[in-house]
Amino acid sequence: RIPLIIDTDPGVDDAFAIALALHSPEVEILAVTATYGNVSLARTAANVQRILALAGRADVPTAPGAARPLIHEQAEVAPDWHGEDGLGLRSRDYPNVDAIGQHTALSVKAEILRRSPIPVTIAVLGPMTNIALLLAIHPELAPKIGRIVAMGGSLGLGNTRGAGEFNIYADPEAAHRVLAQSEVPVTLVPLDMTMSCWAGAEWLDMLSSAGPRCATLVRTADLYREVFRERYGQDAVVLHDMLAMIEVVAPGTLAVTPQPISVDCTLGPERGRTTSGTGVGPSVDVALEVDSATVLTESLRRISAMR
Ligand code: BDR
Ligand code: CA
Repeated sequence: RIPLIIDTDPGVDDAFAIALALHSPEVEILAVTATYGNVSLARTAANVQRILALAGRADVPTAPGAARPLIHEQAEVAPDWHGEDGLGLRSRDYPNVDAIGQHTALSVKAEILRRSPIPVTIAVLGPMTNIALLLAIHPELAPKIGRIVAMGGSLGLGNTRGAGEFNIYADPEAAHRVLAQSEVPVTLVPLDMTMSCWAGAEWLDMLSSAGPRCATLVRTADLYREVFRERYGQDAVVLHDMLAMIEVVAPGTLAVTPQPISVDCTLGPERGRTTSGTGVGPSVDVALEVDSATVLTESLRRISAMR
């Protein structure tokens, strides 16, 4: 099985991604670490525990990581999409969670990488701050990372303040380190791809009817669904992080094009923009195409096992 660490900021689509990984026999989830992102770190860290508990997997180690970006004090948040609690104002539907433990995302990841006899995959579903810190503090562990699969970036339009995609805009300096300054193989799943894969009402209804836990997960997306309906005029959602996770559990599902990626770290309107072909760094495998029907059917089949 593929050893896997998930670094995440739940987040509605993060919740679907975690549920997908938990119901994929190809991967062994060694830890789920939290970063600030869609909401504050205190909330994302608790949400990680809530999602694991909902799936009956409270045994999976969790730990909180960065509470803010590397350089800028103000963390970007997205409560308009994910609710103030990060779970679509539905966190009370989830099991109660314990206080967050003593370990940090950094120490948990380092320990896992040190001990693993085979390279570990890291799925990055939020800002890249935790990964940049890991690579900066433990460069000797970089060869133990088999690959990073990250949801983030856009070669076309961004979704946050203009040019940037949320996860990259939240901490462009961290993204620059991971995408343009590290030798770790990275598969990047940008908005160009995710925005072509819409899960509609029928998909959500089928998942909801698989059982009460799945129904809770789908209700988490009610607010998110409402925002999509208002902005795009259709009853369908884009579950960005779930689409990156399908590539983690079934490598090769997404067709990729290797290209250097540069991240705009200026403070102007271009901040957070990811550009292809202009970087001097190593190539990133960028997923630009997706067979939506296959990915949605496969995700539905797997997550439905949560019942
Ligand atoms: C990304 O930003 C977050 O709001 C989502 O969880 C996803 O990781 C999409 O731009
Ligand atoms: Ca996310």
